[in-house]
Amino acid sequence: MTDQKTIFSGIQPSGNLHLGNYLGAIKNWVALQDEYQSIFCVVDLHAITMPQNPEQLRKKSIEVAKIYLAAGIDPIKSTIFIQSHVPEHTELAWILNTITRMSDLFRMIQFKDKAGIQKEKNSKREVIKKEVISKEEHTYHKTGVGLFDYPVLMAADILLYDADLVPVGEDQSQHVEITRTLGKRFNSTFGETFNIPQVYMIKEGMRIMGLDDPIKKMSKSVQSKYNRIDLLDSPDEIREKIMKAVTDSGNKIEYGDNKPAIKNLLNIFALVTDSQPTKIAARFEDKGYKEFKETLADAVIEYLTPLQKRYHGIPDTDVQLILAQGAKKLAPLAKKKMIDVKEKLGFVM
Ligand code: AQP
Repeated sequence: MTDQKTIFSGIQPSGNLHLGNYLGAIKNWVALQDEYQSIFCVVDLHAITMPQNPEQLRKKSIEVAKIYLAAGIDPIKSTIFIQSHVPEHTELAWILNTITRMSDLFRMIQFKDKAGIQKEKNSKREVIKKEVISKEEHTYHKTGVGLFDYPVLMAADILLYDADLVPVGEDQSQHVEITRTLGKRFNSTFGETFNIPQVYMIKEGMRIMGLDDPIKKMSKSVQSKYNRIDLLDSPDEIREKIMKAVTDSGNKIEYGDNKPAIKNLLNIFALVTDSQPTKIAARFEDKGYKEFKETLADAVIEYLTPLQKRYHGIPDTDVQLILAQGAKKLAPLAKKKMIDVKEKLGFVM
């Protein structure tokens, strides 16, 4: 390994990758790989923290890696691999569990979102009868322990390779914070073992919101396909989804927090045309939503077409080979780190 700083990031193969994953994560990785020693993971172990169809999971894991390649992640410069191919991730996660406090994890926004706790809190019912809602009513009682433990596995992913920087969308920054906490806690208890990483928040990595609900982020696992633009959507699908995207009251194209739906569409427009949302708003000032959306759809189609062409030209066998090489390259690093960890813990070696 060289003197270059190391970055680590990953995406769950939990559904179709969407424009949010691309603009908030992958696009930025491509730019960073020239400057940093880059490790990009397909986090299948994280994906199973929510129920997955096994055949789909297998298919999506290859698909995610192929999208990395089609987007411009170069397997010569960067290491691409599947998380479950390096078993030390789960081994370290278990060890980190033993220094993680319940209170560390209960604060995690993603857990609260996915376990439905936030929803309860925000509901009118919670406001009205806050004290009387019993814990049993919370959906989190049906939630798997894996979802609760998600950030610890993410910490293991990052600490295992002594990553310096973790480029993630703003929604994941809390998980990088807990990684830092756990790394420091381990170091102070057992002696210097892990490099303490920093979140790499990309300027452009703003949160892309759902097309059907601009208050929540665009997400793979939202049931409605109208929530997102998938990276592999056909031009017709992209057009249909954008035309159906919710808009705000009134009919003026303005960039502001009082118009969250239009703001989100303007952000997307700006990112795919390398422009400023306010400039685009000015351009459409006197135009209606329909014309704005039609032009946006054309821009998104034009933006995604080259990636899609590259994607369809990559054989699965190439992807499998690259993933196998990636895991092979990382295995010795992971093993070395685990020997250090186990020695510090007092395990018989
Ligand atoms: N809407 C988004 N806007 C900007 N960035 C986003 N990311 C995800 N959604 C948006 C970034 O994509 C990376 C990979 O995310 P992930 O697959 O590990 O999990 P996630 O953040 O939970 O993404 P999804 O799409 O919402 O997946 P599901 O529905 O399966 O949970 C991260 O860097 C994230 O910031």
